[in-house]
Amino acid sequence: MFDLIVIGAGPGGYVAAIRAAQLGLKVACVEGRGSLGGTCLNVGCIPSKALLTSSGKYAELSHLAAHGIAVEGASLDLNAMMARKDKVVGDLTKGIGFLFKKNGVELIEGWATIPAAGQVKVGDTIHETKNILIATGSEPTPLPGVEIDETDVLSSTGALALDAVPEHLVVIGAGVIGLELGQVWARLGAKVTVVEYLDRILPGIDGEIAKLAQRALSKRGLKFQLGRAVKAVDAGEGGLSLTVERVGKDTVDTIVADKVLVAIGRRPVTRGLGLDALGVEVNERGFIPVDGSFQSSVPGIYAIGDCVPGPMLAHKAEEDGVACVEGLAGLQGHVDYDKVPGVVYTDPEVASVGATEEALKDAGTDYISGKFTFMANSRARSTGETDGAVKVLASPDGVLLGAHICGAHGGDLIAELVLAMAKGATLTDVAASCHAHPSMAEAVKEACLDALGRAIHA
Ligand code: NAI
Repeated sequence: MFDLIVIGAGPGGYVAAIRAAQLGLKVACVEGRGSLGGTCLNVGCIPSKALLTSSGKYAELSHLAAHGIAVEGASLDLNAMMARKDKVVGDLTKGIGFLFKKNGVELIEGWATIPAAGQVKVGDTIHETKNILIATGSEPTPLPGVEIDETDVLSSTGALALDAVPEHLVVIGAGVIGLELGQVWARLGAKVTVVEYLDRILPGIDGEIAKLAQRALSKRGLKFQLGRAVKAVDAGEGGLSLTVERVGKDTVDTIVADKVLVAIGRRPVTRGLGLDALGVEVNERGFIPVDGSFQSSVPGIYAIGDCVPGPMLAHKAEEDGVACVEGLAGLQGHVDYDKVPGVVYTDPEVASVGATEEALKDAGTDYISGKFTFMANSRARSTGETDGAVKVLASPDGVLLGAHICGAHGGDLIAELVLAMAKGATLTDVAASCHAHPSMAEAVKEACLDALGRAIHA
């Protein structure tokens, strides 16, 4: 009899399993993919970051002339780039197997179903357990009428494994996946057109910061067609033909491409577990509603990560998982969902935590704001990474409510502001901390000073 069986070895599930074992529970983790780490490690966060880094180095070559460096004869070996990505993924997934052994987590390989509360079935074997944690993650949302074949019409999985650079890649959806993978292929030489339903990119990100990101990404070669919905993708002689409707108008355009990436969101994977028969409540979008201790509507069955309502982010799933099993072990687990950072790993990076300006306006909350552009930051000037800005939002008495960055290393810079918000820090607390010179982090300090009416370099 196990104390806990975790279904799914993604960042939510494997972290929960390890933490539960550390707390003395007898734990098993079931995974059917054949390798550990879930979407994030196998076909998501990690391979995309490997390709973003490799393609970034390639793109950088054409900017070295400004530094007085002439590069001749540079060429792209896509196979080698992909092999490096696969090795990074392979090493990390194997690392989780090592951590399972080290912490005494039993790995059960195969796809699980839940025949009854307290039972997990894998193959023909039924495993008895006191608690079950569903950490089955998410999968790409399909676009009605568009069939993903992973050869020409791709999800993120196919777009991470192309064997040649497309001539024209059309990305459907200007969200995180569309922009990250769109930039990879644009850097490697593809013409990339991003078609987005809304009249802006990066829904959910502060509008002013999203505009800065759009400008910077356009400068780096991405073409945007906003306010357009893709209605159909048909295979023809000249390649793929996309039927694109202008939202709110009767106009229909055609775009021809050789590859299409569908990146219109992700949906929870909760089918096939037997939840209906068990009476586990699943909402109309497939998510499992849970209470404050991550328990579903059936006692002893818990759920975390992408398959429960909330942001679909690996680090949020990890926090869920740790809080859930700490609760099971009698500790006080807690996640502060207002302070979960989000990072888009494009160049420039886009990073945010807390409320956007739009959300504060909608809620009628009084706020003050400050901004500092990287153009005025001496480190950014010396590296040539001057696109973007740091923006902070605070209550009138200075308590940080949100922070948003578009700029190089934004994904690292946001950590200071996450910690500040987690500790209830004020603009003055951040501004009064000494920031090294010259550093990109000085832009964080200056944005806080700006909100206080005291910016030095603006
Ligand atoms: P998303 O929800 O971020 O963006 C999808 C976009 O597609 C939206 O802007 C939407 O308006 C647009 N769209 C929907 N239907 C359309 C249509 N028919 N025609 C044109 N545009 C259409 O979804 P995405 O990028 O697929 O990411 C999925 C999830 O994965 C997100 O929750 C994201 O947070 C997560 N993720 C996070 C990463 C990170 O943290 N760096 C990296 C990759 C994914």
